[in-house]
Amino acid sequence: MICEISFMSSYEIRGKKRLEGEYVLQRAKNSALAVMCASVLVKGGTLIKDCPDISDVDNLSAILTRIGAVVRRTGDGLYVNTDGVYSSYLPEDLCEKLRASLFLAGPLVARFKAASFAYPGGCSIGARPIDIHLDGFSKLGAEVGKNEKRVNVFASSTIGAKIKLRYPSVGATLNVMCCAVTAKGETVVENAAAEPEVKDVADYLSLCGAKIKGAGTSVLIIDGVEKLYGGKSFTPVPDRIECGSVLLAVLATGGEVAVRGANPANICNLLQKLRDNACKLHINNDIISIITNGRAKGFEKVVTAPYPAFPTDLHPQLAACAATAAGRTEITETVFDSRFNYARQLKRFGADVTVNPNGVTINGTDLTGANVKAEDLRGGMALCIAAMAAEGVSTVEGVSHIARGYASFKEKFNALGASIAEIDP
Ligand code: UD1
Repeated sequence: MICEISFMSSYEIRGKKRLEGEYVLQRAKNSALAVMCASVLVKGGTLIKDCPDISDVDNLSAILTRIGAVVRRTGDGLYVNTDGVYSSYLPEDLCEKLRASLFLAGPLVARFKAASFAYPGGCSIGARPIDIHLDGFSKLGAEVGKNEKRVNVFASSTIGAKIKLRYPSVGATLNVMCCAVTAKGETVVENAAAEPEVKDVADYLSLCGAKIKGAGTSVLIIDGVEKLYGGKSFTPVPDRIECGSVLLAVLATGGEVAVRGANPANICNLLQKLRDNACKLHINNDIISIITNGRAKGFEKVVTAPYPAFPTDLHPQLAACAATAAGRTEITETVFDSRFNYARQLKRFGADVTVNPNGVTINGTDLTGANVKAEDLRGGMALCIAAMAAEGVSTVEGVSHIARGYASFKEKFNALGASIAEIDP
Protein backbone atom coordinates (compact mmCIF):
# COMPACT_ATOMS: atom_id res chain seq x y z
CA MET A 1 0.00 0.00 0.00
CA ILE A 2 2.93 2.31 -0.50
CA CYS A 3 2.07 5.05 -2.91
CA GLU A 4 5.24 5.06 -4.97
CA ILE A 5 6.50 8.43 -5.93
CA SER A 6 9.93 9.65 -5.00
CA PHE A 7 10.12 12.84 -2.98
CA MET A 8 12.46 14.23 -5.63
CA SER A 9 10.42 13.24 -8.71
CA SER A 10 9.33 15.75 -11.33
CA TYR A 11 6.88 15.61 -14.18
CA GLU A 12 7.82 16.57 -17.69
CA ILE A 13 4.61 17.72 -19.35
CA ARG A 14 4.17 18.45 -23.06
CA GLY A 15 1.33 20.90 -23.36
CA LYS A 16 -1.51 21.52 -25.80
CA LYS A 17 -2.70 17.91 -25.92
CA ARG A 18 -6.46 17.65 -26.25
CA LEU A 19 -7.96 15.54 -23.45
CA GLU A 20 -10.49 12.92 -24.52
CA GLY A 21 -12.07 9.84 -23.00
CA GLU A 22 -13.37 8.67 -19.67
CA TYR A 23 -11.92 9.53 -16.26
CA VAL A 24 -12.97 7.49 -13.23
CA LEU A 25 -12.90 9.42 -9.96
CA GLN A 26 -11.40 8.20 -6.71
CA ARG A 27 -13.26 8.40 -3.42
CA ALA A 28 -12.76 11.58 -1.41
CA LYS A 29 -9.36 11.99 0.24
CA ASN A 30 -10.76 14.14 3.02
CA SER A 31 -13.53 11.69 3.77
CA ALA A 32 -11.33 8.58 3.72
CA LEU A 33 -8.79 10.20 6.07
CA ALA A 34 -11.49 11.37 8.48
CA VAL A 35 -13.18 7.95 8.50
CA MET A 36 -9.81 6.32 9.24
CA CYS A 37 -9.49 8.64 12.25
CA ALA A 38 -13.08 8.14 13.39
CA SER A 39 -12.59 4.36 13.29
CA VAL A 40 -10.53 4.74 16.51
CA LEU A 41 -13.91 5.05 18.24
CA VAL A 42 -15.25 1.84 16.82
CA LYS A 43 -14.85 -1.65 18.25
CA GLY A 44 -14.25 -4.14 15.45
CA GLY A 45 -12.72 -3.44 12.07
CA THR A 46 -13.87 -1.16 9.28
CA LEU A 47 -13.42 -1.75 5.58
CA ILE A 48 -13.13 1.59 3.79
CA LYS A 49 -14.15 0.54 0.32
CA ASP A 50 -12.31 2.06 -2.65
CA CYS A 51 -10.06 4.00 -0.28
CA PRO A 52 -7.84 6.15 -2.55
CA ASP A 53 -4.25 5.02 -3.05
CA ILE A 54 -2.63 8.29 -2.04
CA SER A 55 0.31 9.07 0.20
CA ASP A 56 -1.81 10.90 2.80
CA VAL A 57 -3.59 7.59 3.41
CA ASP A 58 -0.20 5.85 3.70
CA ASN A 59 1.00 8.43 6.20
CA LEU A 60 -2.15 8.21 8.31
CA SER A 61 -1.91 4.41 8.15
CA ALA A 62 1.63 4.70 9.54
CA ILE A 63 0.41 6.84 12.45
CA LEU A 64 -2.43 4.44 13.24
CA THR A 65 -0.09 1.45 13.03
CA ARG A 66 2.41 3.18 15.33
CA ILE A 67 -0.27 3.46 18.06
CA GLY A 68 -1.38 -0.16 17.71
CA ALA A 69 -3.95 -0.36 14.91
CA VAL A 70 -3.94 -2.94 12.15
CA VAL A 71 -4.19 -1.31 8.73
CA ARG A 72 -3.93 -3.17 5.46
CA ARG A 73 -4.93 -2.80 1.84
CA THR A 74 -7.38 -5.41 0.62
CA GLY A 75 -8.52 -6.05 -2.94
CA ASP A 76 -11.43 -3.65 -2.52
CA GLY A 77 -10.28 -1.06 -0.03
CA LEU A 78 -8.47 -0.36 3.22
CA TYR A 79 -9.13 -2.46 6.31
CA VAL A 80 -8.60 -0.62 9.59
CA ASN A 81 -8.95 -2.29 12.97
CA THR A 82 -8.19 -0.05 15.92
CA ASP A 83 -9.04 -2.55 18.69
CA GLY A 84 -5.34 -2.83 19.59
CA VAL A 85 -4.69 0.91 19.84
CA TYR A 86 -2.87 1.32 23.14
CA SER A 87 -1.59 4.87 23.02
CA SER A 88 -3.12 8.27 22.52
CA TYR A 89 0.29 9.93 22.23
CA LEU A 90 0.95 11.01 18.65
CA PRO A 91 4.63 11.51 17.84
CA GLU A 92 5.90 14.74 16.23
CA ASP A 93 7.58 13.08 13.27
CA LEU A 94 4.29 11.61 12.05
CA CYS A 95 1.96 14.50 12.94
CA GLU A 96 4.03 16.92 10.90
CA LYS A 97 3.51 14.81 7.81
CA LEU A 98 -0.19 15.51 7.46
CA ARG A 99 -2.93 17.82 8.62
CA ALA A 100 -5.42 15.01 9.08
CA SER A 101 -3.41 13.66 12.05
CA LEU A 102 -5.24 16.37 14.02
CA PHE A 103 -8.52 14.59 13.28
CA LEU A 104 -7.38 11.74 15.55
CA ALA A 105 -7.55 14.01 18.59
CA GLY A 106 -11.35 13.88 19.05
CA PRO A 107 -11.62 10.09 18.67
CA LEU A 108 -8.63 9.57 21.02
CA VAL A 109 -10.05 11.90 23.69
CA ALA A 110 -13.37 10.07 23.43
CA ARG A 111 -11.75 6.66 23.76
CA PHE A 112 -8.89 7.25 26.21
CA LYS A 113 -10.14 10.43 27.92
CA ALA A 114 -6.73 11.85 27.10
CA ALA A 115 -4.66 12.65 24.04
CA SER A 116 -1.32 14.25 23.35
CA PHE A 117 -0.50 15.41 19.87
CA ALA A 118 1.97 17.62 18.06
CA TYR A 119 0.85 20.51 15.88
CA PRO A 120 -0.14 19.00 12.53
CA GLY A 121 1.60 19.51 9.21
CA GLY A 122 -0.15 19.79 5.84
CA CYS A 123 -0.11 22.34 3.05
CA SER A 124 1.49 25.73 3.69
CA ILE A 125 -1.52 27.82 2.76
CA GLY A 126 -1.63 30.22 5.67
CA ALA A 127 -1.88 30.25 9.45
CA ARG A 128 -3.84 27.23 10.57
CA PRO A 129 -4.67 27.69 14.26
CA ILE A 130 -6.49 24.96 16.19
CA ASP A 131 -8.28 27.10 18.79
CA ILE A 132 -11.76 26.00 17.65
CA HIS A 133 -10.85 22.32 18.12
CA LEU A 134 -9.46 23.01 21.60
CA ASP A 135 -12.40 25.17 22.60
CA GLY A 136 -14.71 22.32 21.56
CA PHE A 137 -12.81 19.83 23.76
CA SER A 138 -13.00 22.24 26.70
CA LYS A 139 -16.76 22.66 26.27
CA LEU A 140 -17.11 18.86 26.34
CA GLY A 141 -15.43 18.83 29.74
CA ALA A 142 -11.74 18.38 28.88
CA GLU A 143 -8.75 20.26 30.22
CA VAL A 144 -6.43 21.49 27.51
CA GLY A 145 -2.77 22.29 28.07
CA LYS A 146 -0.26 23.24 25.41
CA ASN A 147 3.31 24.30 24.87
CA GLU A 148 5.08 25.35 21.69
CA LYS A 149 5.40 21.73 20.51
CA ARG A 150 2.45 19.71 21.81
CA VAL A 151 -1.15 19.85 22.96
CA ASN A 152 -2.33 17.69 25.84
CA VAL A 153 -6.02 17.06 26.37
CA PHE A 154 -7.38 15.34 29.45
CA ALA A 155 -10.98 14.63 30.40
CA SER A 156 -12.06 12.63 33.44
CA SER A 157 -15.34 12.30 31.57
CA THR A 158 -16.81 13.88 28.46
CA ILE A 159 -20.19 15.54 28.89
CA GLY A 160 -22.57 16.77 26.19
CA ALA A 161 -22.75 20.54 25.74
CA LYS A 162 -24.05 23.33 23.56
CA ILE A 163 -21.16 24.47 21.39
CA LYS A 164 -21.18 27.29 18.87
CA LEU A 165 -18.12 27.13 16.64
CA ARG A 166 -16.48 30.52 15.98
CA TYR A 167 -16.11 29.43 12.32
CA PRO A 168 -17.46 26.34 10.54
CA SER A 169 -14.08 24.60 10.55
CA VAL A 170 -14.14 21.17 8.91
CA GLY A 171 -11.53 19.69 11.24
CA ALA A 172 -13.02 21.19 14.41
CA THR A 173 -16.50 19.94 13.47
CA LEU A 174 -15.07 16.44 12.95
CA ASN A 175 -13.20 16.49 16.26
CA VAL A 176 -16.13 17.83 18.27
CA MET A 177 -18.55 15.40 16.61
CA CYS A 178 -16.28 12.40 17.27
CA CYS A 179 -15.70 13.45 20.86
CA ALA A 180 -19.43 14.01 21.45
CA VAL A 181 -20.75 10.73 20.06
CA THR A 182 -19.78 8.88 23.23
CA ALA A 183 -20.10 11.83 25.67
CA LYS A 184 -22.82 11.70 28.33
CA GLY A 185 -26.04 13.34 27.14
CA GLU A 186 -26.82 15.64 24.26
CA THR A 187 -24.43 17.88 22.35
CA VAL A 188 -25.64 20.59 20.01
CA VAL A 189 -23.03 21.97 17.62
CA GLU A 190 -23.99 25.27 15.99
CA ASN A 191 -22.19 26.81 13.02
CA ALA A 192 -20.92 23.32 12.13
CA ALA A 193 -19.21 22.63 8.81
CA ALA A 194 -21.69 21.23 6.28
CA GLU A 195 -19.10 19.76 3.88
CA PRO A 196 -20.09 16.41 2.30
CA GLU A 197 -17.01 14.81 3.88
CA VAL A 198 -18.28 15.79 7.36
CA LYS A 199 -21.67 14.29 6.55
CA ASP A 200 -19.86 11.18 5.35
CA VAL A 201 -18.11 10.73 8.69
CA ALA A 202 -21.45 11.24 10.49
CA ASP A 203 -22.97 8.58 8.23
CA TYR A 204 -20.11 6.21 9.04
CA LEU A 205 -20.44 6.80 12.79
CA SER A 206 -24.23 6.36 12.56
CA LEU A 207 -23.70 3.06 10.75
CA CYS A 208 -21.66 2.01 13.80
CA GLY A 209 -24.40 3.05 16.26
CA ALA A 210 -23.87 6.79 16.85
CA LYS A 211 -26.93 9.04 17.12
CA ILE A 212 -26.31 12.15 15.03
CA LYS A 213 -28.97 14.41 13.51
CA GLY A 214 -28.41 17.28 11.12
CA ALA A 215 -25.21 16.07 9.43
CA GLY A 216 -24.63 18.09 6.26
CA THR A 217 -26.30 21.16 7.83
CA SER A 218 -24.95 23.83 10.16
CA VAL A 219 -26.54 22.34 13.30
CA LEU A 220 -25.60 18.92 14.62
CA ILE A 221 -27.53 17.26 17.42
CA ILE A 222 -25.67 14.34 18.93
CA ASP A 223 -27.06 11.98 21.52
CA GLY A 224 -24.19 10.26 23.29
CA VAL A 225 -24.06 6.44 23.20
CA GLU A 226 -21.80 4.15 25.20
CA LYS A 227 -20.08 2.25 22.45
CA LEU A 228 -19.77 2.08 18.67
CA TYR A 229 -19.52 -1.24 16.89
CA GLY A 230 -17.72 -1.90 13.63
CA GLY A 231 -17.47 -4.96 11.44
CA LYS A 232 -18.91 -2.69 8.75
CA SER A 233 -17.83 -1.57 5.33
CA PHE A 234 -18.20 2.05 4.32
CA THR A 235 -17.71 3.68 0.92
CA PRO A 236 -16.69 7.36 1.09
CA VAL A 237 -18.30 9.95 -1.18
CA PRO A 238 -16.68 10.67 -4.57
CA ASP A 239 -13.78 13.11 -4.49
CA ARG A 240 -15.40 16.40 -5.49
CA ILE A 241 -12.04 18.19 -5.55
CA GLU A 242 -10.56 15.67 -7.97
CA CYS A 243 -13.74 16.00 -10.03
CA GLY A 244 -13.39 19.79 -10.18
CA SER A 245 -9.68 19.52 -10.96
CA VAL A 246 -10.36 17.31 -13.97
CA LEU A 247 -13.18 19.50 -15.30
CA LEU A 248 -10.98 22.59 -15.01
CA ALA A 249 -8.05 20.80 -16.67
CA VAL A 250 -10.26 19.86 -19.63
CA LEU A 251 -11.63 23.39 -19.90
CA ALA A 252 -8.07 24.76 -19.88
CA THR A 253 -6.63 22.34 -22.45
CA GLY A 254 -9.71 21.69 -24.58
CA GLY A 255 -11.33 18.31 -25.06
CA GLU A 256 -14.22 16.00 -24.41
CA VAL A 257 -14.17 13.94 -21.22
CA ALA A 258 -16.75 11.93 -19.29
CA VAL A 259 -15.98 12.06 -15.57
CA ARG A 260 -17.46 8.94 -14.04
CA GLY A 261 -18.27 8.23 -10.39
CA ALA A 262 -19.15 11.84 -9.56
CA ASN A 263 -21.75 13.27 -7.23
CA PRO A 264 -22.85 16.37 -9.20
CA ALA A 265 -24.88 17.64 -6.22
CA ASN A 266 -21.65 18.14 -4.28
CA ILE A 267 -20.03 20.50 -6.79
CA CYS A 268 -23.00 22.58 -7.91
CA ASN A 269 -21.10 25.81 -7.45
CA LEU A 270 -18.32 24.87 -9.89
CA LEU A 271 -20.80 23.35 -12.36
CA GLN A 272 -22.69 26.64 -12.44
CA LYS A 273 -19.47 28.49 -13.28
CA LEU A 274 -18.65 26.00 -16.03
CA ARG A 275 -22.15 26.37 -17.53
CA ASP A 276 -21.37 30.06 -18.13
CA ASN A 277 -18.08 29.15 -19.84
CA ALA A 278 -16.94 27.81 -23.23
CA CYS A 279 -18.16 24.26 -22.77
CA LYS A 280 -21.22 22.07 -22.66
CA LEU A 281 -21.93 19.92 -19.64
CA HIS A 282 -24.09 16.82 -19.70
CA ILE A 283 -25.01 15.21 -16.43
CA ASN A 284 -26.28 11.67 -16.38
CA ASN A 285 -26.47 10.19 -12.86
CA ASP A 286 -22.84 9.85 -11.77
CA ILE A 287 -21.31 10.95 -15.07
CA ILE A 288 -20.42 14.56 -15.79
CA SER A 289 -19.39 15.02 -19.42
CA ILE A 290 -17.62 18.17 -20.49
CA ILE A 291 -17.24 19.13 -24.15
CA THR A 292 -15.25 22.30 -24.68
CA ASN A 293 -16.13 24.81 -27.29
CA GLY A 294 -13.12 27.04 -28.02
CA ARG A 295 -10.98 28.93 -25.56
CA ALA A 296 -12.03 29.11 -21.90
CA LYS A 297 -13.47 32.45 -20.77
CA GLY A 298 -12.46 34.38 -17.65
CA PHE A 299 -14.62 33.53 -14.63
CA GLU A 300 -15.21 37.18 -13.60
CA LYS A 301 -15.64 37.03 -9.80
CA VAL A 302 -15.18 33.92 -7.68
CA VAL A 303 -15.29 33.87 -3.88
CA THR A 304 -14.14 30.83 -1.89
CA ALA A 305 -16.06 30.04 1.30
CA PRO A 306 -17.29 27.04 3.30
CA TYR A 307 -19.61 24.54 1.57
CA PRO A 308 -21.81 24.93 -0.46
CA ALA A 309 -19.90 27.97 -1.77
CA PHE A 310 -16.94 27.65 -4.13
CA PRO A 311 -14.35 25.37 -2.42
CA THR A 312 -10.98 26.80 -1.44
CA ASP A 313 -9.45 23.48 -2.51
CA LEU A 314 -10.33 24.35 -6.14
CA HIS A 315 -9.02 27.92 -5.98
CA PRO A 316 -5.52 27.23 -7.45
CA GLN A 317 -6.87 24.93 -10.20
CA LEU A 318 -9.47 27.54 -11.23
CA ALA A 319 -6.71 30.16 -11.25
CA ALA A 320 -4.61 27.99 -13.59
CA CYS A 321 -7.55 27.63 -15.97
CA ALA A 322 -8.24 31.37 -15.76
CA ALA A 323 -4.58 32.10 -16.56
CA THR A 324 -5.03 30.65 -20.04
CA ALA A 325 -8.60 31.88 -20.60
CA ALA A 326 -9.82 34.87 -22.59
CA GLY A 327 -10.71 37.60 -20.10
CA ARG A 328 -10.45 38.47 -16.47
CA THR A 329 -10.95 36.55 -13.23
CA GLU A 330 -10.90 37.86 -9.69
CA ILE A 331 -10.67 35.23 -6.97
CA THR A 332 -11.32 36.26 -3.38
CA GLU A 333 -9.97 33.71 -0.88
CA THR A 334 -11.93 33.86 2.38
CA VAL A 335 -10.96 30.50 3.94
CA PHE A 336 -7.14 30.53 4.12
CA ASP A 337 -5.08 33.66 4.52
CA SER A 338 -2.22 32.92 2.14
CA ARG A 339 -3.16 30.34 -0.41
CA PHE A 340 -1.16 32.10 -3.11
CA ASN A 341 2.21 30.29 -3.42
CA TYR A 342 1.11 28.87 -6.76
CA ALA A 343 0.72 32.38 -8.24
CA ARG A 344 4.47 33.07 -8.29
CA GLN A 345 4.96 29.78 -10.15
CA LEU A 346 2.11 30.46 -12.61
CA LYS A 347 3.91 33.65 -13.63
CA ARG A 348 6.76 31.51 -14.97
CA PHE A 349 4.38 30.27 -17.68
CA GLY A 350 3.83 33.92 -18.62
CA ALA A 351 0.56 34.18 -16.66
CA ASP A 352 -0.67 37.66 -15.79
CA VAL A 353 -1.52 37.13 -12.10
CA THR A 354 -1.51 39.77 -9.39
CA VAL A 355 -1.72 38.77 -5.75
CA ASN A 356 -3.85 41.12 -3.61
CA PRO A 357 -4.22 40.93 0.18
CA ASN A 358 -7.34 38.72 -0.10
CA GLY A 359 -7.07 37.11 -3.48
CA VAL A 360 -5.71 37.19 -7.00
CA THR A 361 -6.57 39.01 -10.19
CA ILE A 362 -5.86 37.19 -13.42
CA ASN A 363 -5.95 38.42 -17.00
CA GLY A 364 -5.91 35.34 -19.23
CA THR A 365 -3.15 35.00 -21.82
CA ASP A 366 -1.23 32.37 -23.84
CA LEU A 367 0.99 30.28 -21.57
CA THR A 368 4.38 28.85 -22.53
CA GLY A 369 6.18 25.86 -21.02
CA ALA A 370 8.23 26.57 -17.90
CA ASN A 371 10.15 24.95 -15.04
CA VAL A 372 8.08 25.26 -11.89
CA LYS A 373 7.88 23.79 -8.41
CA ALA A 374 4.82 22.44 -6.60
CA GLU A 375 4.73 23.75 -3.04
CA ASP A 376 1.43 22.27 -1.90
CA LEU A 377 -1.16 19.73 -3.04
CA ARG A 378 -3.78 21.82 -4.83
CA GLY A 379 -1.21 24.37 -5.98
CA GLY A 380 0.76 21.47 -7.51
CA MET A 381 -2.32 20.33 -9.41
CA ALA A 382 -2.79 23.90 -10.65
CA LEU A 383 0.74 23.92 -12.07
CA CYS A 384 0.08 20.64 -13.90
CA ILE A 385 -3.10 22.15 -15.40
CA ALA A 386 -1.14 25.20 -16.55
CA ALA A 387 1.58 22.94 -18.01
CA MET A 388 -1.01 20.87 -19.88
CA ALA A 389 -2.51 24.06 -21.33
CA ALA A 390 0.83 25.73 -22.18
CA GLU A 391 2.64 25.68 -25.52
CA GLY A 392 5.80 23.54 -25.28
CA VAL A 393 7.42 21.47 -22.55
CA SER A 394 7.27 22.14 -18.80
CA THR A 395 8.89 20.56 -15.79
CA VAL A 396 6.92 20.43 -12.55
CA GLU A 397 9.12 19.64 -9.54
CA GLY A 398 7.90 18.52 -6.13
CA VAL A 399 5.24 16.16 -7.46
CA SER A 400 5.17 14.20 -4.19
CA HIS A 401 2.75 16.95 -3.10
CA ILE A 402 0.36 15.83 -5.86
CA ALA A 403 0.64 12.17 -4.83
CA ARG A 404 -0.69 13.18 -1.41
CA GLY A 405 -4.16 13.60 -2.87
CA TYR A 406 -4.44 12.36 -6.46
CA ALA A 407 -4.07 8.60 -7.05
CA SER A 408 -2.33 7.70 -10.34
CA PHE A 409 -2.38 11.30 -11.54
CA LYS A 410 0.05 10.71 -14.42
CA GLU A 411 -1.58 7.48 -15.60
CA LYS A 412 -5.13 8.86 -15.45
CA PHE A 413 -4.30 12.01 -17.42
CA ASN A 414 -2.09 10.17 -19.92
CA ALA A 415 -5.03 7.83 -20.60
CA LEU A 416 -6.94 10.96 -21.70
CA GLY A 417 -4.15 11.92 -24.11
CA ALA A 418 -1.95 14.12 -21.93
CA SER A 419 1.81 13.73 -22.25
CA ILE A 420 3.23 13.43 -18.73
CA ALA A 421 6.48 11.61 -17.95
CA GLU A 422 7.97 11.13 -14.49
CA ILE A 423 11.64 12.02 -14.30
CA ASP A 424 14.04 11.50 -11.40
CA PRO A 425 16.72 14.13 -10.93
C1 UD1 B 1 -10.08 20.79 5.73
C2 UD1 B 1 -9.53 20.06 4.54
C3 UD1 B 1 -8.89 21.01 3.56
C4 UD1 B 1 -9.86 22.13 3.20
C5 UD1 B 1 -10.43 22.79 4.45
C6 UD1 B 1 -11.51 23.82 4.15
C7 UD1 B 1 -8.86 17.87 5.34
C8 UD1 B 1 -7.73 16.94 5.65
N1 UD1 B 1 -8.52 19.10 4.99
O1 UD1 B 1 -8.96 21.38 6.39
O2 UD1 B 1 -8.54 20.27 2.40
O3 UD1 B 1 -9.16 23.10 2.45
O4 UD1 B 1 -11.01 21.79 5.30
O5 UD1 B 1 -12.50 23.27 3.35
O6 UD1 B 1 -10.01 17.50 5.39
N2 UD1 B 1 -9.41 27.73 11.70
C9 UD1 B 1 -9.13 28.45 12.86
N3 UD1 B 1 -9.10 27.77 14.04
C10 UD1 B 1 -9.31 26.43 14.12
C11 UD1 B 1 -9.59 25.72 12.93
C12 UD1 B 1 -9.63 26.39 11.74
O7 UD1 B 1 -8.94 29.66 12.82
O8 UD1 B 1 -9.27 25.88 15.22
C13 UD1 B 1 -9.43 28.43 10.41
C14 UD1 B 1 -8.28 27.97 9.51
O9 UD1 B 1 -7.08 28.66 9.83
C15 UD1 B 1 -8.80 28.31 8.15
C16 UD1 B 1 -10.30 28.06 8.29
O10 UD1 B 1 -10.59 28.06 9.68
O11 UD1 B 1 -8.57 29.67 7.88
C17 UD1 B 1 -10.76 26.75 7.68
O12 UD1 B 1 -10.05 25.69 8.25
P1 UD1 B 1 -10.70 24.25 8.45
O13 UD1 B 1 -12.08 24.20 7.89
O14 UD1 B 1 -10.48 23.84 9.86
O15 UD1 B 1 -9.76 23.37 7.53
P2 UD1 B 1 -9.12 21.99 7.85
O16 UD1 B 1 -10.05 21.14 8.64
O17 UD1 B 1 -7.73 22.19 8.35
